[in-house]
Amino acid sequence: MIIEIKDGKQARAEREAARGAARAQEAAHEAVRAQEVAGAESPPEDAPSRSGSVAPDPFGKENYRRMKALLKERVSERRFQHSKGVAKTARKLARVYGYPNPEQARMAGLVHDWDKRYVGQAARDRVAELGMDIDPTIVESMPWLLHGPTGAEALRRSFPELGEAVFQAVARHTSGAVGMTDLDMIVFTADLIEPSRTFKDVEPVRAAVGKGSLEDLFFTAFKAIFVNLVQNNRMLHPDMVEIWNHYSVRQPGAQKGRLSSSPDPRLNN
Ligand SMILES: [Fe+2]
Ligand SMILES: [Fe+2]
Repeated sequence: MIIEIKDGKQARAEREAARGAARAQEAAHEAVRAQEVAGAESPPEDAPSRSGSVAPDPFGKENYRRMKALLKERVSERRFQHSKGVAKTARKLARVYGYPNPEQARMAGLVHDWDKRYVGQAARDRVAELGMDIDPTIVESMPWLLHGPTGAEALRRSFPELGEAVFQAVARHTSGAVGMTDLDMIVFTADLIEPSRTFKDVEPVRAAVGKGSLEDLFFTAFKAIFVNLVQNNRMLHPDMVEIWNHYSVRQPGAQKGRLSSSPDPRLNN
């Protein structure tokens, strides 16, 4: 360990430098925020995503580093670590299941909680700020689900180069959807099983990685979340029942739960 002893002048200079860096960070954040609200048609000239050279590969190392730095300014340290975990896990799942663009999956994982800092009324205000049309029941009763859709919309406006596949995966990570794409399923599942998640229901999902199809893994993850919500008396997004019905009948053994084509005649009396 190195211990530095600083004189007063040096310490003052360092404090001033730190304040300058903080002001620059805040200015960068405000520029992104202004751009999100204004939309892609009229970006402010000094917005970081527009200034200078745009990385040729939106999912390459350079842009990944840039998005990581911007995310760090938006979320708590714990959320930042979680996001990096989701990014890594998403890339790993992409490789395990043969998804053709693991770096795209990594980026989608990194930015999936882009709007997570908007909580409660702030999340509702965010919907209005972005002019989004979201089911009022969700806005009023389940604001914790809004950061998926609003994060996707904010990213779409500020970083269109990331593409619709990424925006959709971000939008769908909070509740899932019928007709999940491979990328949607990768991000949804990575969000649940990334290394910093510790609750016990995660273990069977982790153990299922690589054992069947990607859809099997997604269904296992969705089921773990669904059961956890029910067991803890939590509200369900109304679409979750439709999603459950859609995917459960595609699982092996699902037929057992359906009506028989030759029902017991005694039931017709
Ligand atoms: Fe999230
Ligand atoms: Fe997350």
